[in-house]
Amino acid sequence: MKRLNSQLQKDGAPLELILLIRTLLAGCKEISFRVSQGALAGVLGSTLSENVQGETQKKLDVISNQILKDTLRDSGYVKAISSEEEDTVVPCDPNGNYLVSFDPLDGSSNTEINSLIGTIFSIAHAPQWMEPDDPSAFLQPGTQMVAAGYVLYGPSTMLAMTTGRGTHIYTLDKTHGGFLLTHPNVQVPHGTAEFAINTSNQRHWEMPIQQYVADLLAGEEGPRKKDYNMRWVAAMVGDIHRVLCRGGIFMYPFDKRNPSKPGKLRLLYEANPMAFLMEQAGGLADTGQGRIMEVMPSEIHQRVPVLIGSKEEVETCLSYYRKAG
Ligand code: AHG
Ligand code: MN
Ligand code: MN
Ligand code: MN
Repeated sequence: MKRLNSQLQKDGAPLELILLIRTLLAGCKEISFRVSQGALAGVLGSTLSENVQGETQKKLDVISNQILKDTLRDSGYVKAISSEEEDTVVPCDPNGNYLVSFDPLDGSSNTEINSLIGTIFSIAHAPQWMEPDDPSAFLQPGTQMVAAGYVLYGPSTMLAMTTGRGTHIYTLDKTHGGFLLTHPNVQVPHGTAEFAINTSNQRHWEMPIQQYVADLLAGEEGPRKKDYNMRWVAAMVGDIHRVLCRGGIFMYPFDKRNPSKPGKLRLLYEANPMAFLMEQAGGLADTGQGRIMEVMPSEIHQRVPVLIGSKEEVETCLSYYRKAG
C-alpha cells in the first residue's frame, strides 16, 4: 500500500509542504493516542474556561490545541497559526512560509460518549510582507488553500487530504505509525439517499431549507419520489467522512436566531477545508448564496452556512434558494 509521502510527491507537493504536513500529522498522531486513552488518562470532561466563540472548552479541546501549536510553532515552516481555540492568531517563525488554520478537536462534545471526533486543518502560503502576529493574511478566500484535510479519530484513525490533485483517504497503521493510502482519488457517490441536518433547529431555518427538507421527508409520496434516510453524528468530521464515502448532503444552514452569526460552523477551521476536500472529490460546497471557497472572510472566527455533499443533491438544494429569489 502506498505511503502518504509518495502520494504527496506524485501530486507534485513541494518538499517544504510535505515536511509541514508530516509535522502536523505527527501532532495528530499524538492526539489520536491521547483520545484513545480516554478516562484512563483523565482527559475527558470540561474545563472551567470558554473559548472566544463562547463554547465551554473540553479538556481535550485544550490539549489538542496545545499539541498542534507546540508541534507547528517550532517547526520553522509556519509563520502563524489560527485556531478555533485561540482568541487571536498565534505568531510562529518570522521566516515560515505557510499559514495553518485548524479546528484541533471537532465534535468535542462526543468525547464524553466515546464517539467520533477529529482534527480539521488547512494550509495557505504566508505572504512575504506579513508580520507573524498580523491576522489580515488569514483573511483570504478558501481558493488560496494549498492543502486541507481532516484526521478522524474513529475505530480506525483516518486521514482525508487534498493538495488540489484529488482527495485521498489514508488509514493510520498503528503498528508502524504511518498513514497508508487506502482510498485513492475518492469520488463522492451520486444517487444519494441520505441527508444530515440537526432538525432540532428547524424552527430557525429559512424558507428554502424548510421546503427542501420537507420534500426529503415526504419520501416516495413527495416530489423527490424517493425515501431518504437521516444521519447526524454531531461532529462535522464524522458526517463529512460518511458523505465522502457514501454520498449525501450535510447541512448547517443559516440560522435566524442570530443574524450576526450566520450558521454555526467556522469558515476557516471547518467550512473551507471540508469544501476543498468535497470539491476535489467531485462534490459541491455552498452557503446557499455562493461557493464556500469564494467567501472573503472579514474576521478569523467568521461563521458561514454550510451545504455540502454530492453534486446533484447540493444543486437540488440550491434550486430551492433560487426559487425563493
Ligand atoms: P466543535 O466541537 O469543533 O465546536 O464543532 C462542533 C460542530 C460540528 O462538528 C458539528 O457538526 C456541529 O457542531 C454539531 O452541532 P449541534 O450541536 O447542532 O449538533
Ligand atoms: Mn468548539
Ligand atoms: Mn468543529
Ligand atoms: Mn473544535
